[in-house]
Amino acid sequence: MMAAPQEQQLGTPASSRDWSPASWQRKPAAQQPVYPDAEALQRVLAQLARLPPLVTSWEIENLKQQLAEATCGERFMLQGGDCSESFDDCESSAIASKLKILLQMSLVLVQGGKKRVIRLGRFAGQYAKPRSSDSETRDGVRLPSYRGDMINRTGFTPEERTPDPELLLRAYERSGLTINFIRSLIEGGFADLHHPEYWELAFVANSPHASEYKRMVDTIGESLRFMETLTGCVLADINRVDFFTSHEGLHLYYEQAQARQVPRRTGWYNLSTHFPWIGDRTRALDGAHIEYFRGIANPVGVKIGPSITPDEALAIADTLNPRNEPGRLTFIHRFGAAHVEECLPPIAETMQRKGRSILWCCDPMHGNSETTRSGFKTRRFEKILFELETSYRILKACGTHLGGVHFELTGDNVTECIGGASGVTEADLAGEYRSQLDPRLNYEQAMEMALLLARLMARNPH
Ligand code: PEP
Ligand code: CO
Repeated sequence: MMAAPQEQQLGTPASSRDWSPASWQRKPAAQQPVYPDAEALQRVLAQLARLPPLVTSWEIENLKQQLAEATCGERFMLQGGDCSESFDDCESSAIASKLKILLQMSLVLVQGGKKRVIRLGRFAGQYAKPRSSDSETRDGVRLPSYRGDMINRTGFTPEERTPDPELLLRAYERSGLTINFIRSLIEGGFADLHHPEYWELAFVANSPHASEYKRMVDTIGESLRFMETLTGCVLADINRVDFFTSHEGLHLYYEQAQARQVPRRTGWYNLSTHFPWIGDRTRALDGAHIEYFRGIANPVGVKIGPSITPDEALAIADTLNPRNEPGRLTFIHRFGAAHVEECLPPIAETMQRKGRSILWCCDPMHGNSETTRSGFKTRRFEKILFELETSYRILKACGTHLGGVHFELTGDNVTECIGGASGVTEADLAGEYRSQLDPRLNYEQAMEMALLLARLMARNPH
């Protein structure tokens, strides 16, 4: 029998299929800014390509290995952070609180799932955003849409909205500052499991979940002390936890400048982040993003929304992961509470039937956005939870498992999503609505989500 076209490619490395860091330029590239001064852009890109990398190939390979273990059900991946980072928030308390919330949630998930958790921040590079329209009109004035701090500015004037290549350098530098601070905190023992009190956020004590969280922390402390008594040594390996970075690899000139070759390894790595992902709007099979991503060695994610078909998903898997390596490809599914029951089973069944190695990560945020009568973009806690729980159940029924979750969240006390035990209502949204783009779970909502997911995992292990 003749092999299907996608199967003929199995095992063929991207490098032998005419790939280069610039080969995406031959394909249609969606969601790219238009720079008025092409020479200024080229000057900036040349500088970017010379700057030292932000991450290393061995960290990337370590993450890929851990994601391979999550694909087999031995670990769980927690990915979270802002929809979009802002230059203004590149300061110590905002960075530390993002780290704290992810650490606390991961501790809860370790308890519930009884497996190690991979912590993947949506930070240190999450500065470019896809938009539904290229332009925005106010009072008859039309200007380019705001596309993230890496590209232009939020103010509504021609100067602020014109894409400015210098911002690519500012974004790279801030990514470097962020990752430097995160590494120092972790090196200094901030993430030491012996000291979870370091991660407490100011308002943890007021949370309705404070006592449940405290109980979990105490249990972990007791287990650590028990193991240390038993083995007679401090569990150095457990002292430190890993942290990895991720961002949407949207701006292809920026990402191209980050594709590097490293000594003693074959292939190309994107050394600006451990885990880049392709957004739902830019995952066209013959598009520029898939072309760029197929040639880099990092583990990669692809967001998939309701418009994906099983054939498309299969073709994406075969293009991005021709050797079917576990850990290389994560599908971050974001169908929404209204569509998950109809959309997820056919995709998951197809991948299972064809034996494709996929890490399934549920993003219950992006399919559940709505705009209130008063004009706030928001998301409802119960819909987010429904999509999460339904995905968990569906993937199990398909013979695979939910291997990760993807949240937009913040350690701050914002009022952007509705619901949860602390009871943010539609009327409360105006109080502390700070996101420029998508609404994030606040600290209490994020912790409650983690606690509920941990309970689900504990009750239904796979
Ligand atoms: C995002 O993650 O912020 C985003 C734009 O998601 P998606 O590509 O799934 O719409
Ligand atoms: Co978003």
